[in-house]
Amino acid sequence: MTTLDGWRASAPVGAAAGRLWSVDWLGVEPWGAALYGNPCRECGFDWSLTPAEAVRWVAGWGARLAAATAAADGTERRVDGGWSVSEYASHVGDNLRQWAERLQSARLAQQIQVAGYDPDALAVARGYATLPLAVAVWSSELAATTWVEVLTSALDEDVSLRHPTRGLQRAADVARNNCHDAFHHLWDVEQILVTSSSARVSAERPFYSRHADAYDLLITDPVEPWVDAVHDRLVLAGRPSASVLDAGCGTGRHAAALGAKGHRVDLADASPELLARASARCPASRALLVDLCTMRLPAEYDAVTCRGVLNDMITDAEREAAVAALAGCLRPGGLLFLDVREADASRSRADGGTRLVVAELTGTKQPTGNAELRFHTRTTWERGLLRVEERYELWRDGRVEQESSYDFTMRPWSRDELFELLRRHGLRHVDITAGVGRRTADRLLVVAR
Ligand SMILES: C[S@@+](CC[C@H](N)C(=O)[O-])C[C@H]1O[C@@H](n2cnc3c(N)ncnc32)[C@H](O)[C@@H]1O
Repeated sequence: MTTLDGWRASAPVGAAAGRLWSVDWLGVEPWGAALYGNPCRECGFDWSLTPAEAVRWVAGWGARLAAATAAADGTERRVDGGWSVSEYASHVGDNLRQWAERLQSARLAQQIQVAGYDPDALAVARGYATLPLAVAVWSSELAATTWVEVLTSALDEDVSLRHPTRGLQRAADVARNNCHDAFHHLWDVEQILVTSSSARVSAERPFYSRHADAYDLLITDPVEPWVDAVHDRLVLAGRPSASVLDAGCGTGRHAAALGAKGHRVDLADASPELLARASARCPASRALLVDLCTMRLPAEYDAVTCRGVLNDMITDAEREAAVAALAGCLRPGGLLFLDVREADASRSRADGGTRLVVAELTGTKQPTGNAELRFHTRTTWERGLLRVEERYELWRDGRVEQESSYDFTMRPWSRDELFELLRRHGLRHVDITAGVGRRTADRLLVVAR
């Protein structure tokens, strides 16, 4: 247990999600960056954000927390223990509340000396563990709203506090430190709720996280064939304006096009970065940061679409869990639309050759300049699995600025496996035909009800 003020250590899991903010190092106290790394070794928080950016981020805290926990019940925690989702939500609220009170003490009563507190002891005293998630989220958002109001004034007045271990704390330092606390614990919540290995890949794979801005530049196959196929079937089924869950929505390209045809589409994905893009593209849609293998939603949707996703589930248990979850969201008679890789055709495409695609990023990354992402992939076949090796090179003004690599595995589907699994989960009518709108002939379109 750590007693660092307002901070609770978490188990280090996986790579940090890259986020970019503008650089302003003037007058920044080094405490947080020195302790957690810059960017933070776990959550990827960039300490060079400005106080105003920190305040803006915290202003969106309630919405972020609500989206991240929409499909949770609050009791989920890491397998090795630690705080639950609901306890993290309460902690962030109390930390923001506590610091807002400290700044108000300086502003309203000239009391600048603050005392440290033990967040674990506070959790017990306040009974975080018994607070329902909806109440923890409500209370946390309320605290964030007050904090934003207080910080805005304290920054204007350049209020300073004196902390027993950190020394002088200007309002600007409080803004960054508190923003990191919230940012990091949102990351904890996301990590807890994203548990299967496919969901872990979604959260870690650079193409879905640090380089998510390249996704729409590189995936440019037309959306219409898939969207038309789904729409036509829904019209035939008497649902011209259906409620649809796009499971594994990516950046929301297909969800937006289905929305434009009059359907009401909810978004679900395990990659926070891709989901944020989908949400920006479909602002009226509910966005669920979920692991499709553990998702539990009411059986209310007229249709569930799941395109290019189920290949990422490689164990039998994950495939079973994902299909059960998708089937479980459908109202009686609802339609499930899948696009998956077919095993034999995938095997012949996995020739071990390296492919290079390039995304022009100029204007999409900070600092700007002539930037491009060179994305090398090599795919091989091994006993029913596609092994994918990826290498990313971020070039700026003619030289490599960042290089990383990532390997993962996919498992294509046979028709027999699809028939069997779908039937086992109550989908009696299963149609399997050639994929639609794909540039290669290794995909299947599955429509089941
Ligand atoms: C190849 S992309 C396809 C995105 C989109 N459907 C499309 O066709 O453009 C696969 C998507 O599935 C998501 N995904 C994979 N496994 C997942 C899981 N277990 N839970 C939620 N999303 C998952 C990834 O994050 C990613 O957005």
